[in-house]
Amino acid sequence: MPEPGPELMDTVVNLCKRRGFVFPSSEIYGGFRSTYDYGPLGVLLLRNVKDAWWRSMVQLRDDVVGLDAAILSSPRVWEASGHLGAGFADQLVDCRSCKERWRADHIGDTCPNCGSTDLTEPRAFNLMFKTYVGPVEDAGAVAYLRPETAQGMFVNFANVLQASRKRPPFGIAQMGKSFRNEITPGNFVFRTREFEQMELEFFVPPGEAATWFDYWCQQRLAWYCGLGMAPELLRLRAHEPEELSHYSAGTSDVEFRYPWGWGELEGIANRTDFDLAAHASASGQRLEYFDQATGERYVPHVIEPAAGATRTMMAFLLAAYDTDVVAGEARTVLRLHHRLAPYKVAVLPLSKKDTLIPLARRVLGLLQPHFMCDYDETQAIGRRYRRQDEIGTPFCVTVDFESLDDAAVTIRERDSLAQVRVPVAGLVAALAERLAG
Ligand code: GAP
Repeated sequence: MPEPGPELMDTVVNLCKRRGFVFPSSEIYGGFRSTYDYGPLGVLLLRNVKDAWWRSMVQLRDDVVGLDAAILSSPRVWEASGHLGAGFADQLVDCRSCKERWRADHIGDTCPNCGSTDLTEPRAFNLMFKTYVGPVEDAGAVAYLRPETAQGMFVNFANVLQASRKRPPFGIAQMGKSFRNEITPGNFVFRTREFEQMELEFFVPPGEAATWFDYWCQQRLAWYCGLGMAPELLRLRAHEPEELSHYSAGTSDVEFRYPWGWGELEGIANRTDFDLAAHASASGQRLEYFDQATGERYVPHVIEPAAGATRTMMAFLLAAYDTDVVAGEARTVLRLHHRLAPYKVAVLPLSKKDTLIPLARRVLGLLQPHFMCDYDETQAIGRRYRRQDEIGTPFCVTVDFESLDDAAVTIRERDSLAQVRVPVAGLVAALAERLAG
């Protein structure tokens, strides 16, 4: 793998645009402030990242259930959670000379733009996106786009507890869009104002919080490695006390080695009973667990592994990017895990001749119900292999003139470049076996 220097970022951003993973939003109007659109391959990759997370966090467990809460909710949720207060604000200073605005913790006494020392006093700038619900834009109609998916899970705690008949330790998982009016978005989709999160709120008896915190730190680190991320690109870092969010008694980040250095990929926080207690107090509802057998009653503590889906997608792209030389020719290859690759299989007729196309299309039709497939009949076969390598397709299936006689095709593997002849009748099983491995 190439060293993750600054040029790797440009290369991957370029590839994302050229091959249809991520486009700058509103590009025909000059773009729009660090917002991005996910193209034909990006939508598949992002979905695969989220599916892999859901599979690991919900499907393979019997102690986690899912939720999909609304993006808009009562403003009282955000009053109670503390997000409308100073805890969810950045301190900003303005340069009186050039009018640039800066995060106070990012600069010293001088404006990095013009060098002026004529700066305003720091002022709190809340990161919530405000909007109005209904036709009247007055104070009574104010609502906020959620800045995290987490609160939807806390305010539904009693509903889920009753409906699912779970008991602590158990979790609620949710994936979806969140919005923050970030002062310094940037580094492609690393920090944007609209992004997707994948969060688990894991409710535990208070005395078990420390054990479950360690458990989730290890689980989450293992998830990235299990999807092919090299362990040397990952580390766990405990927050210093002054870094902690307003709700956290302890947080460790899963950090990734980005081209610009180590940075957060996911945060695992011990949120204690902060949120349930805050919502219970603000709503007047009981948000606690009552054990009928023992008569025990308590407010569970929460361990929260909180990842960004869009940021994670970018990290997987950076980690997968590779170049090598095949038959004397340089190639770019995305070594994406099979589970994440946008297309699992590409069907490539060796030639565009009429005799081959009907069989190639029949093979495609055979595979499509099972795998996300691409089909490409243009240009020389070598060029088409390179195009599939560059987008991470694990297997190419080549239909050649012999296929007309022996009803067999060639499977070519992206990483080893191994080629194997397989009867069309056994192709689905052969690919399924390789993709499961
Ligand atoms: N509920 C806890 C919470 O939201 P966070 O550390 O603020 O914690 C969790 O966010 C994850 O969401 C981060 O680790 C990051 O992956 C992602 N994330 C946060 N802000 C983001 C932004 N502006 N753009 C992209 N991803 C972001």
